[in-house]
Amino acid sequence: VDPSLDLFEEIERLKREKNAVLLAHYYQEGDIQDIADYIGDSLGLAREAEKTDADIIVFAGVHFMAETAKILNPTKTVLLPDLHAGCSLADSCPPDAFAAFRAEHPDHIVISYINCSAAIKAQTDIICTSSNAEHIVRQIPADQPIIFAPDRNLGRWLIKETGRDMVLWQGACIVHEIFSEQELVRLKVRHPNAPVLAHPECEEAVLRHADHVGSTSSIRRFAAESNAEAFIVATESGILHQMQKDNPGKTFIAAPPDNGCACNDCPHMKLNTLEKLYLCMKHEAPELHMDEQIRLAALKPIERMLEMSE
Ligand code: 13P
Ligand code: SF4
Repeated sequence: VDPSLDLFEEIERLKREKNAVLLAHYYQEGDIQDIADYIGDSLGLAREAEKTDADIIVFAGVHFMAETAKILNPTKTVLLPDLHAGCSLADSCPPDAFAAFRAEHPDHIVISYINCSAAIKAQTDIICTSSNAEHIVRQIPADQPIIFAPDRNLGRWLIKETGRDMVLWQGACIVHEIFSEQELVRLKVRHPNAPVLAHPECEEAVLRHADHVGSTSSIRRFAAESNAEAFIVATESGILHQMQKDNPGKTFIAAPPDNGCACNDCPHMKLNTLEKLYLCMKHEAPELHMDEQIRLAALKPIERMLEMSE
């Protein structure tokens, strides 16, 4: 890419020329968030993708998110700046092994977190996101056994919050399992008035120190509404960009990982760059394509989620 190009201007021009909408997750780099038409959590992004009248959806996020957009809006062209932007949590649940797991629990209803492949969604009764998971689990009749997949940490947290026993698939996210409880406690001692905000994909040992547990959008909202001056944030560091923009006078401290470095970046999310975004809009590639049978099977549990989370 010609280094003299103003990528912000070029991307804006391509959006207008091609009637494209740019949706970005909070874990994208700051520049991408700044140029997006909509920034949100997984539920918000799915809703935007469903209702857009743009011809092209450019999805600055990871593969399962772009896939969800395509499932909901198949007539649109869905572009992802880097098709290799996957998700360790989605990868922790292979479709064949999951089919065998379901077969061991034939009377169970399957609730799956949206962070999974379309092949897992196709084996699911109801999808949920971190924004609506608790609300959805509470709507399931008490005598109905549940399999929850793929995230064991979100699953464990839901069991604790709702008192509902569920059979958990043992998947996890590499980013949210990296936080160190010991370092977090040290940080709390140094900042005793800073509430700890954590995503439910974090391990129990971290969640037990949290003052607020929620999705990226609820973490953002909590920080904006709180009177506290400083916050410790246990989730991917991209969210800090909006939190800092919303609250210029407040301090946001990233919870420390246990790998000795100060980085809570998701390597998959961060595969997308402004340059790749520009190129994908210019060439309308890479484009996400889906098998129609899988799409239809994956659509059902997403539609159920949307109905149940109204
Ligand atoms: P939410 O933005 O829905 O909270 O999801 C977090 C996440 O891990 C996305 O990959
Ligand atoms: Fe997947 Fe974790 Fe990255 Fe989210 S933060 S996309 S769950 S690997």
